[in-house]
Amino acid sequence: MDKLIITGGTPLEGEIRISGAKNAALPILAATLLADGPVKVGNIPHLQDITTTMELLGRMGVELVVDERMNIEVDCSTIRELFAPYELVKSMRASILVLGPMLARFGKAVVSLPGGCAIGSRPVNLHIEGLVKMGADVHVEGGYIHAKASRLKGAHLVMDLVTVTGTENLMMAATLADGTTVIENAAREPEVVDLANCLNAMGAKVSGAGGDTISVEGVDKLCGTHYDVLPDRIESGTYLAAAAITGGRVRIKDTRPRMLEAVIEKLREAGACVEVGDRWIDLDMKGSRLRSTNIRTSPYPAFPTDMQAQFTSLNVVASGTGTISETVFENRFMHVHELQRMGADIQLAGNTAVIRGVDRLTAAPVMATDLRASASLVLAGLVAEGDTVVERIYHIDRGYESIEEKLAKLGARIRRVPA
Ligand code: UD1
Repeated sequence: MDKLIITGGTPLEGEIRISGAKNAALPILAATLLADGPVKVGNIPHLQDITTTMELLGRMGVELVVDERMNIEVDCSTIRELFAPYELVKSMRASILVLGPMLARFGKAVVSLPGGCAIGSRPVNLHIEGLVKMGADVHVEGGYIHAKASRLKGAHLVMDLVTVTGTENLMMAATLADGTTVIENAAREPEVVDLANCLNAMGAKVSGAGGDTISVEGVDKLCGTHYDVLPDRIESGTYLAAAAITGGRVRIKDTRPRMLEAVIEKLREAGACVEVGDRWIDLDMKGSRLRSTNIRTSPYPAFPTDMQAQFTSLNVVASGTGTISETVFENRFMHVHELQRMGADIQLAGNTAVIRGVDRLTAAPVMATDLRASASLVLAGLVAEGDTVVERIYHIDRGYESIEEKLAKLGARIRRVPA
């Protein structure tokens, strides 16, 4: 397995381009199953999770053509199998996103249950309950969700809690249902809005995305289109955090500052000078030390759980004491034990980490446990004394496009060592 070796101590400087959003590209690729004609999706990031999605669609018999700029054209007219196998779903939970589209378009779907993962139990009960309310006949057998419906019916869905892929699955299913579906307590994430925009470009009638009530008027069919995925706000936030932790000065381009307001506010509170334009964000630490911040994760527009681990690393080397409360996932502090091995002073109590900033971190071999946890270890490595070796970086490759190339472009001393 590849490793990253990072020699800490260089402030990042320069500019980089942000890639397309993984969490928008995945549901949009699943949504192509709904269309009668070919759908071309642009600004797709080059990531392992995208490769897994392509493999999933490919195994169903869907035709995919990828050009050199990572535009993917998907044609579902050749679909043979309405099946998502365990071996793919367990490596990428977002595979569950094919459930709603397959059922709505083809009347049948067999999708593996994802099971637990490193950051908690992560059930999909709300996806299933919503589809049942829309008239689907669903049973779970042998670890698989078996769903059937001759045509889904519009329904009034009140979500017990805010779920991003749950909202997306039900919104996609509703596009081809008979009648109108209302989703209350819907997720408001920008990626949900991007999916709704793509569905509307395919001829769907979705309104209210971005708010907590989404309304979907079912139509008889959806057609092909060309849609470019929005920029990745978590990748944006991670590079801003990397600049901040190293005391650097960077510009990130091709991003959307409006999607990052909660993160930018915390970076400013931590002492960073942040300026934003239409499609760029500048961050400059101007020689000052980071200050600790208190963070509480919550669904959008509050502070994202996918930036929690990175801000844990910022607090580790900041002046003062900061608390990080994780309210979205039950077990998302795996990075804490690795950071402690580099000299971090962190006390964990339930879903809260109390972090006393230290003056220096020392390099150590550390192990990535999940996608964002691995980003926090890379950040710590950028400031630790010595060579930090990050193992199991396949987690990073799931969600960060060419991370070592982008960081090296900003002056970081980082290299990938193949297994
Ligand atoms: C998505 C993101 C992930 C992000 C998360 C929260 C994608 C592909 N992934 O994951 O990066 O960290 O949102 O912003 O977009 N839950 C239930 N029952 C359900 C569904 C969810 O109890 O049926 C719970 C989960 O266990 C969790 C909470 O709801 O505690 C939120 O999870 P959810 O928003 O569904 O996360 P994902 O959509 O899997």
